[in-house]
Amino acid sequence: MPTVDNATAKTLNELGVNDAQGVAEIFAEVRARFDRQVALDTDGIRNLMLQQAWLGSDRDPVTSLRNFWLGRKAGVLTLITENWLKRSPPSLKGVIGKQFNELKSHIETKLAEQRKRIEEKTEAAALTREQVDLSLPGVIHPIGSHHLIRQVFQEIEDIFFSIGFSVVEGPEIETPYYNFEALNIPEFHPVRDDMDTFYIDLPEGAPTPLLLRTHTSPMQIRTMEKQKPPVRVIVPGKVYRRDNPDATHSFMFHQVEGLAVDTDITFCDFTGTIEYFVKQFFGAGVKTRFRPSYFPFTEPSVEFDVSCIFCGGSGAAAGGGVCSKCKGAGWIELFGAGMVDPAVYGFVNYDAKKVSGFAFGMGIDRLAMLRYGIDDIQVFFQNDVRFLKQFP
Ligand code: DAH
Repeated sequence: MPTVDNATAKTLNELGVNDAQGVAEIFAEVRARFDRQVALDTDGIRNLMLQQAWLGSDRDPVTSLRNFWLGRKAGVLTLITENWLKRSPPSLKGVIGKQFNELKSHIETKLAEQRKRIEEKTEAAALTREQVDLSLPGVIHPIGSHHLIRQVFQEIEDIFFSIGFSVVEGPEIETPYYNFEALNIPEFHPVRDDMDTFYIDLPEGAPTPLLLRTHTSPMQIRTMEKQKPPVRVIVPGKVYRRDNPDATHSFMFHQVEGLAVDTDITFCDFTGTIEYFVKQFFGAGVKTRFRPSYFPFTEPSVEFDVSCIFCGGSGAAAGGGVCSKCKGAGWIELFGAGMVDPAVYGFVNYDAKKVSGFAFGMGIDRLAMLRYGIDDIQVFFQNDVRFLKQFP
């Protein structure tokens, strides 16, 4: 009895099969061969198909096996039709046809079953893989925090909110008019030397030069242009100067501007407000003082000092010698301020005879450094998380 290997390439006559008994036997052999193959797992089928050089282009072994048996052009059943059925003597055709139909329906049923089995298995595997274990700990995404400068801004805003101020913000790119002229700083005023800044490259014929604001004071003008008295605003924001970076200088830093204008604001309201703020911010124990100073947009102008928060105002270091922070003075310079110069009201159409007010401008980086004992302004901008994490 010939084996079915390559048998389907030959005719039954060539295989020596010439009666019903022989036909039944050779079909049984084909069927047994199929049954062995269909029982394999996908890896087994893949290996087999590779051996047969039959792996379909889709590389799916189950589909390849199906094509191997049922493929229209060169599938085993097609070969059987061509070589056994068509090329057999008429007397055997009936038997062969019957055997063929049985084999065909057997193969179709088994292949369908196999596909279902494999699909169910893949689905089950996917289900196990995707199962959510609610008892596992979650993924912890570390929550960031506000930058220290932002925190200090917020604290200052809260203090001023509590006494009726509101917050306004303005452009960092300004015109010389708002940054200087309207603040009573004409073009050749020497004070401009302290505020050398960055000018924006503009096309020729631009209506006005533009610069990075050197202070938040331009917002005094913009606010008063928009609004009639009473005015009570603070202006947090970034400002720029052409300073070389060192422990206390940066080309960009932060200020909070303050402005209060009404019909009856006195120097007492001014110092009282500042003192209230300083005590809220540094603690009730600190003392304040002011010294005469000069700003073109305030008259009189003052510089506010706070008693040194490191030596308690004594000027002496704990271990002897002078306090390194206030250099023995017992006072630390805080910020500039003053009563709004009447000339400024002229730029915003306020009646200088009817209104009065005060303004102040403080460097936030400096306040934060004092308050938290930070001795290098650059750490604010380096964003080293080891630094940032200390102020959650
Ligand atoms: N704009 C000033 C500066 O940046 C600070 C300043 C001083 C602001 C006195 C004021 C003020 O509003 O009244 O140096």
